Amino acid sequence: MLQHPQVKGPGIGLLGISLGADICLSMASFLKNVAATVAINGSGTSGSRTIHYKQTSIPPLGHDLRRTRVTFSGILDIVDIRNDLIGGHENPSMIPIERAEGPILFIVGQDDHNWRSDFYAQTASHRLEAHGKAKPQVISYPGAGHYIEPPYFPMCPASLHKLPNKTVIWGGEFRAHSQAQVDAWKQILSFFSKHLGGTQDRVPPKL
Ligand SMILES: *[C@@H]1O[C@H](CO)[C@@H](O)[C@H](O)[C@H]1NC(C)=O
Ligand SMILES: *[C@@H]1O[C@H](CO)[C@@H](O)[C@H](O)[C@H]1NC(C)=O
Repeated sequence: MLQHPQVKGPGIGLLGISLGADICLSMASFLKNVAATVAINGSGTSGSRTIHYKQTSIPPLGHDLRRTRVTFSGILDIVDIRNDLIGGHENPSMIPIERAEGPILFIVGQDDHNWRSDFYAQTASHRLEAHGKAKPQVISYPGAGHYIEPPYFPMCPASLHKLPNKTVIWGGEFRAHSQAQVDAWKQILSFFSKHLGGTQDRVPPKL
């Protein structure tokens, strides 16, 4: 990306959602030149897989599908399947985000039913503070679910999840979630503009 002619550099910004947010947090922790990271509804942990980088391995936090609940509609709710984050921000399954060079913006939906992203963002914040880093910006939206996407994308209330290989609910109330998408987009652009040296008077995106 740094060699791409349309990348101004010297640093790049990362934006990821769900598992993608955790991949971005890992990249920011282990790779150079990541100047700013936005994590939407990530866990800040290794989740269900081991993360490998050179000599470092982060063991999986793990889950237990027996904690799956079936909602009235027959669709699954997996919000409680993840194992407890024992030891909080010192848990060995936490991504070592204190190593990140640039600031991190956490965006979370308080009604996230994939996992408790609000709790994970607070734990990540404690971890940064415990390592003498600045408290990160955490923007938390009441009534928003797991998939906070760009403005005016329809909310996805439920779809196939690879872990149980069944349909799960993602959480979110339509109105609150849609409003969160409009606001989150503005916040993301302003965060990147501030930390990647953009200009405020850019042409607004036409969505
Ligand atoms: C986070 O997940 C929740 C629950 O599914 C969702 O409602 C919310 O929109 C998500 N937030 C973002 C920013 O994707
Ligand atoms: C997932 O479920 C479908 C149908 O319910 C089945 O055909 C498929 O083999 C399953 N995939 C895995 C990886 O178990």
